[in-house]
Amino acid sequence: MTTLNEQLANLKIIPVIAINRAEDTIPLGKILVENGMPCAEITLRTECAIEAGVDFIVSPGFNPRTVQYCIDKGIAIVPGVNNPSLVEHAMEMGLRTLKFFPAEASGGTDMLKALTAVYPVKFMPTGGVSLKNVDEYLSLPSVLACGGTWMVPTNLIDEGKWDELGKLIRDAVEFVNK
Ligand code: 3PG
Repeated sequence: MTTLNEQLANLKIIPVIAINRAEDTIPLGKILVENGMPCAEITLRTECAIEAGVDFIVSPGFNPRTVQYCIDKGIAIVPGVNNPSLVEHAMEMGLRTLKFFPAEASGGTDMLKALTAVYPVKFMPTGGVSLKNVDEYLSLPSVLACGGTWMVPTNLIDEGKWDELGKLIRDAVEFVNK
């Protein structure tokens, strides 16, 4: 069975999606898959975040209660951290795959290099990552995949611009697999 780390490493990028209308889910899912992206991080910051089940949970911050709940239920969770103390807390709870958020505002690749010099963890940086810097992040051995909204902007979903979205997704997938 493929591990979560292997899945993330194969994907290289994960679109972070805020969807406003449940009816956009099917066309959006279709566009994602047709353009080479079989994964999406659905944010819970809109009213219609869907209850369709998940393969894993991602959180912007490190909430020990949320993490413990997921561990107890056997659900994979990738919580957000951005400093040594939070990395240690996550490690103490048995986690070795963490979101690095907000990546650019927290020191970007320099901070990641400093953290992984001392902690044996893998990261999924998100926050300020785009085609401009995704290569820099993915070149680090500690980075499995990067998350970001740049490939699926909410306004394009709201406007039903599926062709435009398809191009953004395809360009992003091709860019990181070149
Ligand atoms: C999010 O919206 O959850 C992440 O912060 C993504 O950040 P980005 O818009 O900078 O990609």
